[in-house]
Amino acid sequence: VIRGLSSSAVRNAAIKHVTIIGGGQMGAGIAQVAATTGHSVVLVDTNEEILKKSAKGIEGSLKRVVKKKFADKPDAGAEFIAKVMANVSISTDAASVVGSTDLVLEAIVENLKIKQGLFGALDKVAPAHTIFASNTSSLPITDIASSTSRLDRFGGLHFFNPVPMMKLVEVIGTSATSQDTFDSLLAFSKALGKTPVSCKVRSSGIPYDTIHYVHHMPFRSIRLHERGHGSKEDIDIAMKLGAGYPMGPFELLDYVGLDTAKFIMDGWVEKDPGNPLMQPSEMLNKLVAEGKFGKKTGEGFYKYK
Ligand code: NAI
Repeated sequence: VIRGLSSSAVRNAAIKHVTIIGGGQMGAGIAQVAATTGHSVVLVDTNEEILKKSAKGIEGSLKRVVKKKFADKPDAGAEFIAKVMANVSISTDAASVVGSTDLVLEAIVENLKIKQGLFGALDKVAPAHTIFASNTSSLPITDIASSTSRLDRFGGLHFFNPVPMMKLVEVIGTSATSQDTFDSLLAFSKALGKTPVSCKVRSSGIPYDTIHYVHHMPFRSIRLHERGHGSKEDIDIAMKLGAGYPMGPFELLDYVGLDTAKFIMDGWVEKDPGNPLMQPSEMLNKLVAEGKFGKKTGEGFYKYK
């Protein structure tokens, strides 16, 4: 989509080629949706083994879609999967693949220094028109962007888990993000078939967004449970049947990943140490120390097959 009013036609080109860094549950989910909607996707992670697992995960997820969508037409289903998978390639070297990309979307580990290192390095090799975006749940976009020289082409694109199912995308602009960039991110979200909402960054640099509400409830639930006010099973049932949540808070934490949840909680504790609601959770810390990260490792608050 070229919009006529801008002074720079290059920047307004629609996002067609996407490099997604991090092939975990979010990166793979975003890659699946982008490839399904006709975008050319390169998925990047630290090693081949992870990437093969991500690609297999995407294919498995597409097979479930096909089972419903093409129930009576297995050939058309197989063709659909082949077409989508042809839009996805994998790489362990981000710097070598960003040369023709319109958007670098990062969904790696929730750690500011690592994200800054990644974007700082890619800033030197990516084309001028390339937009950078982070899927971070808790880190200030302004802090991540500060490692680059493209503050006007940097924003947040915050997806929800599981990405193929969840319709919402939060588009986050900092005070330096250009209107062109913000519009491109909104248009890209729509092209993915999602419904974007615009989030304003507060003085802290963290967007005023859904994730605060989404995470406050589970963190409060852990505290209730730690104080012995209710079992995790009962709290999950209460929130599902009483508040209409699709998942209970402990189920949600296991789904999000307890390692990611701990990064988020630690960040909040650091920013607001005096707040009694923002204290570290012994239970969460213990599970993470034991490598029990939730569904992805087979055990978290609950055990999985
Ligand atoms: P994950 O642990 O499933 O996947 C992260 C992936 O990044 C791993 O495959 C890891 O090998 C890879 N990685 C780590 N460092 C890397 C590097 N330097 N270069 C390339 N790849 C690297 O994590 P998940 O859940 O997908 O989260 C990723 C990001 O998305 C985090 O920033 C998180 O805050 C955010 N997010 C997570 C949500 C969730 O429900 N899990 C929801 C919305 C956002």
